[in-house]
Amino acid sequence: MKIVRTIKDLQNELTPLKIEGKKIGLVPTMGALHVGHASLVERSVKNNDVTVVSDFVNPTQFNDKNDLKKYPRTLEADCALLEKCGADFLFAPPVEEMYPEQDTRTFSFAPLDTVMEGAFRAGHFNGVCQIVSKLFYAVAPDRAYFGEKDFQQLVIVRAMTKKLKLNIEIVGCPIVRESDGLALSSRNKLLSAEDRKIALNISRILFKSSNFAKSHTVEETRKMVEENIAVTAGLQLQYFQIVDGYTLQEIKKWSDASYVVGCITVFCGVVRLIDNVKYKE
Ligand code: PAF
Repeated sequence: MKIVRTIKDLQNELTPLKIEGKKIGLVPTMGALHVGHASLVERSVKNNDVTVVSDFVNPTQFNDKNDLKKYPRTLEADCALLEKCGADFLFAPPVEEMYPEQDTRTFSFAPLDTVMEGAFRAGHFNGVCQIVSKLFYAVAPDRAYFGEKDFQQLVIVRAMTKKLKLNIEIVGCPIVRESDGLALSSRNKLLSAEDRKIALNISRILFKSSNFAKSHTVEETRKMVEENIAVTAGLQLQYFQIVDGYTLQEIKKWSDASYVVGCITVFCGVVRLIDNVKYKE
C-alpha cells in the first residue's frame, strides 16, 4: 500500500490506472480505523480494481473544537489494518492540502440536514459535504463506501452526489457490531471500561424495540426506547427518532413509509454515541 499526502501525487498515481480502465473504489475515513472500516475497505477491494482509503480528521465538520482535539489519531495502526485488507492507496493529507484557504461553500439539503444530527450539530453536514466533495473531485472514484451507522450522513452524501451530478455510486454498508452488539465506532476508544458496559444498553434497547415494534405503534415504540434509556444510569438521550429512511422525517404510523429507521444519539459519560435500527426495509 502506498501512502500519498497530496492530491497531485494521488492523481499522478490514479490517472494511468484509470486510462487502463481500472475501477476505483474510495473509502473516506477519519482514521482510528476498526473492523467496521475494514468491512468497507474489504467490500471496495472485492468490487473494484483499486481501493483508495482517505484518512483525514476533517476540522470543518466538528462544531466542538474540544471534540476535534480529542478525536483519536492512530495512523500507524490504521496502516497495518489497511495493508491487511488489501487497500492500494492511503491518502493522508495534511489540513493545508485539503483547505489551502477557507472553504466558503455552503451545502443545504433541507430537510435532510436540518433534523437529528443536523439539529444538534450546527454546520456538521456542511463540513462533511465540503470534505467529501473535495475527496470526490480529487479521486473521482467509480464507487464510494459509507457505513450505515452514520445513517443520516449516508442519505446526505447520496443527495449531494446527485445534486453535484457526480457519476459515483454511493454504496451503503451495514453496521458492524461487537459480538455483544455495541456498534463499532472510533469513539468507543474514548469509553472507560465502566462506560463501555453501560453503552451496550444502547444496542440492547434498540434490538428490543425492533421486536416491540411488531405489536406496538410508532409512538409506543418511541416512548419505550426513550423510557428504557432514561432508566439506564450513565446514559443520557439526546434524541431518538423513528424516520422514513429516505426523507429522514419522523413518521406517525408504520404505514407512512416503506423504509423505516430508528436513529438514536446518546451520551455515555462524555462520549457521544450514535446507532440505529431498521424497523422496515
Ligand atoms: O464518517 C466519517 O468518518 C466522516 O464523516 C467522513 C465521511 C470520512 C468525512 O470526513
